[in-house]
Amino acid sequence: MRLFPPVWATNRQAYGDDVVGGERVRKDDTVTVSPWVTHRDPALWERPEVFDPERFTPERSATRAEYAYFPFGGGPRRCIGNQFAMMEAQLILAMTAQLFRLKPVPGHPVEPDPILTLRPRHGIVMTLHSRAR
Ligand code: HEM
Repeated sequence: MRLFPPVWATNRQAYGDDVVGGERVRKDDTVTVSPWVTHRDPALWERPEVFDPERFTPERSATRAEYAYFPFGGGPRRCIGNQFAMMEAQLILAMTAQLFRLKPVPGHPVEPDPILTLRPRHGIVMTLHSRAR
């Protein structure tokens, strides 16, 4: 959700003239904001390229800017399925990992494909190894 956010960019229309990060924005301009870019910004994240789930502990999240992490957008149009999506993903991961070890097939390329949502360009091919004896 941080390093490979499924919605890697989204847009907002400006209510009025403004200056954002030194750039002039006019009323009705479309401004693109990208979770992919912000989630990898070294000004906001320590060692941004490293997968480190522990960075989301309450202690380490306490001082993080609110919109440093926004895989579900923000404000009144924030994703309505946020909680459901996270619960579903965690349940599927836990139920699958209890039964199987998943190993990536060596040599198969894993590349992000930034179409409307971020997808693996060639799929992610894995072998499943039963944990049951
Ligand atoms: C990992 C899964 C998901 C991701 C990353 C995601 C991400 C997003 C994002 C970025 C937005 C735009 C928010 C904004 O512009 O501020 C959005 C909107 C929306 N999402 Fe999701 N979403 C996910 C799953 C779901 C699920 C499971 C549902 C429904 C059960 C859902 C329903 C919606 C709806 C209805 C909107 C439009 C909300 C509005 O415009 O008021 N999403 N989602």
